[in-house]
Amino acid sequence: MWLPNLHSSGAILSTLILLAPPSSAFYFPGVAPTSYKIGDKVPLQVNHLTPADSETDRKLRSVFSFDYYHEPFHFCKPEEGPQYIRESLGSILFGDRIQTSPFILHMGKNETCKSVCKEQTFTPRDAVFVNSRIYQGYDLNWLIDGLPAAQLLKDPDSDQSFYSPGFALGYVSDDQPILHNHYNIVIDYHRASKDSYRVVGVLVDPRSMKDSKFLDIDHGECGSTDTPVVLSEEKDTQVTYTYSVYWFPSTTSFATRWDKYLHVYDPKIHWFSLVNSAVIVIFLIGMVSTILVRTLRKDIARYNRLDQLALDDFGDTSAVEDGVQEDSGWKLVHGDVFRPPKNPLLLSIMLGNGAQLFMMAGLTIAFALLGFLSPSNRGSLATVMIIFYTVFGFIGGYVSSRIYKFFHGESWKQNFAYTPFALPGLVFSTFFLLNLFVWARGSSGAVPFTTMLVIVIIWFVISVPLSLAGSWIGFKQPVIEAPVRTNQIPRQIPPSGGYLRPLPSMALAGVLPFGAIFVELYFIMNSIWFSKVYYMFGFLFICYGLMIMTCAAVTVLMIYFLLCAENYHWQWRSFCTAGASAAYVFASALLYWMKDLSFGSWTSGVLYLGYSALLSVLFFVLTGTIGFFASWLFMLKIYKSIKVD
Ligand SMILES: *[C@@H]1O[C@H](CO)[C@@H](O)[C@H](O)[C@H]1NC(C)=O
Repeated sequence: MWLPNLHSSGAILSTLILLAPPSSAFYFPGVAPTSYKIGDKVPLQVNHLTPADSETDRKLRSVFSFDYYHEPFHFCKPEEGPQYIRESLGSILFGDRIQTSPFILHMGKNETCKSVCKEQTFTPRDAVFVNSRIYQGYDLNWLIDGLPAAQLLKDPDSDQSFYSPGFALGYVSDDQPILHNHYNIVIDYHRASKDSYRVVGVLVDPRSMKDSKFLDIDHGECGSTDTPVVLSEEKDTQVTYTYSVYWFPSTTSFATRWDKYLHVYDPKIHWFSLVNSAVIVIFLIGMVSTILVRTLRKDIARYNRLDQLALDDFGDTSAVEDGVQEDSGWKLVHGDVFRPPKNPLLLSIMLGNGAQLFMMAGLTIAFALLGFLSPSNRGSLATVMIIFYTVFGFIGGYVSSRIYKFFHGESWKQNFAYTPFALPGLVFSTFFLLNLFVWARGSSGAVPFTTMLVIVIIWFVISVPLSLAGSWIGFKQPVIEAPVRTNQIPRQIPPSGGYLRPLPSMALAGVLPFGAIFVELYFIMNSIWFSKVYYMFGFLFICYGLMIMTCAAVTVLMIYFLLCAENYHWQWRSFCTAGASAAYVFASALLYWMKDLSFGSWTSGVLYLGYSALLSVLFFVLTGTIGFFASWLFMLKIYKSIKVD
C-alpha cells in the first residue's frame, strides 16, 4: 500500500537532508492522536505571521510573512531561546517556520491572566513597523497539539460558524492601530477514556489592555480592555503580554477535530461550476464523436470506394484523379500530416515535461481526494508533489525521447540533456530570483538557502538519473509507425482565414479548459495568498478530469477543422491551442489582483506577478501536452482507417 512507499521515499529525503536548518530534519509527521492526563503540559508552538485580509476592505495588502520572533514584535521568548520544530520539506517551502514558545498550558486546568515575560519596550522604530503590520492586517499563527489556533467566523451565506486559522495581531479603531497584548486561549478537549484527554479545537480571542502588569514568572495582572495599547511612534512604549487559558469539554472526537476548520465556502458555486463544465464537456464530446462516427465513416467509405473504383477501372485513372481532386479536407493532406514539425526538439522536451506534470498533478489530487494528505500533516501536499514530480522524471524522459524518435529527431544528446532541465530549471530560477526579493525584505517567507540546496540535490540525485533512464528506454523502443507514408515534397497550404488563424483559434479554444477550472482556481488562489486551508479535493478532482476532457475535445475539434482546411501543421498548433488557456489563467490572476489584492509595496506586486506567471507557464505546458496527445491519438486513428496506395 501507499504508506510504506511514502515512508521509504521519505527516508531517502530525510537522509539526504539531515543538515537543513531551520529544521533539523524532514519527516512525515504522524496523525496518531496524542493523549494527555489532566494537568499534563500541552505544547504551544508558534508559526510565522501571515498577511490576512484587512478589515476595512477585505483586501490583501502584502504577501510577505514574518518570523514570530522578529525583533520589533517583542513577543515573549522561551527562557532557553526559541527552537525550530522539525518540519517537512513542503511545509518549509510553503513558508512554515514553527518554533517553541514560552506559553505553558495544562490539560484541563483553567488559568487566568498569566504573564511569561517582563514589560517589553517598543522604540518608535519598532512601533512604526508593528503599526504598519496592524494596518496590513497580519495574523498570528499558533499551533496547539498540531491544531491551528483559530478565530470563530460566521459564513454570511449559510450562517454556519467555523474555525478560521490565525488571529489578528491587532486592529484599527478610529484610524489608530491597536496592538493585542492579551490572548484568551479557549481549548476544546475531549475525554477519550479514563485519564486520557485530547485537544480537539483551539480558539484564540485576542484583547488589548494597556494597564496589564507583570508580577513574577507565570503571574500577571490584567488591565481593562477600555484602555487599549497604542504604540507611540514618537516615544518608547511599554507593553506586557498576558494570556488566559480556558478548557471546555467537547463531544468532538479526535478523528473529526479538523472538520470545523475545513469549511467549504459557498458549496453552491462549486456545484454550479461543475454542472456548467460538465455540460460544456458533454457538448464538445458529442461534437467530436459525431465527427468521428458520422463524417469520418462516410468520408472513409467514400474514399475507399474511390480506391476500389480505381482498381476496377484499371487503366483509367482520370476518375480517381477527379475523385481525389473533389475531395477536400483532411484526406488530402495524408502525405504531410506526419511530417516532423519545426523545432521537434523543443516540442518533444515540452511534451516530456508536460507528461511529468500531468502525472504529478493527477496523482497528487487523487491522493488528496482519498484523504492521505490531510491538513493535519502540515506541508504533506507540497512534499508529496515534490516526491511525485521527482519520481515521474522517468515518465518525462521516456515520453520526450519516444516522441522525439517519432519526429525523426537527430540531436539525441540535446534531447537527453534538456528534458530533465528545461522546466525544473525555469521553475527553480524563477523561484530563486523571487526569493531574493523576499530575502531583501527580511521576511521569513524566504526559503532558507540550505532548503534550496536540498531541492537541487534531490533533483540531481533522483530526478535527473530517472529522467535519463526513461529517455534511454524510450530511445531503445522501436519508432512509432505513422499509419500513412509521408510524401517527399510538402504540399502547399492554402491560406485559411477566420477562426482558423493561429491567434483566433487559440483564443477561442483556450477559454473552454479555463472555464472548467476557474472556480476552483479562484479558491486555490485564495488559499495560497490568504493562507487558508484548501480542502475541496473532491471538486478539484472532478474539475481536473473535466479540464482534461475539455482540453482534449476542443483541440481535436480545432485540429479537425484545420486539417479540413488542408493545413497539416497540427503539432505545434494543437499544443498551443490547448495551452492558450494559460493566458486566461494569467489574465484571471491579474483580475484577482484588481479585485482582492491591494499591495502597499512594489515588491509584493513583483512577487505576485512572478508566481502567477510561473503558474501560467506550468499550466501552459500541462494543457498543451493534453491537447497534443489527444490530437495525436485522433490523427493516428483517422489516418489508420483510410486506405492509401
Ligand atoms: C473553565 O472555565 C469555563 C468558564 O469560564 C468553564 O465553563 C469550564 O468548565 C472551565 N473548565 C474547567 C476544566 O474547569
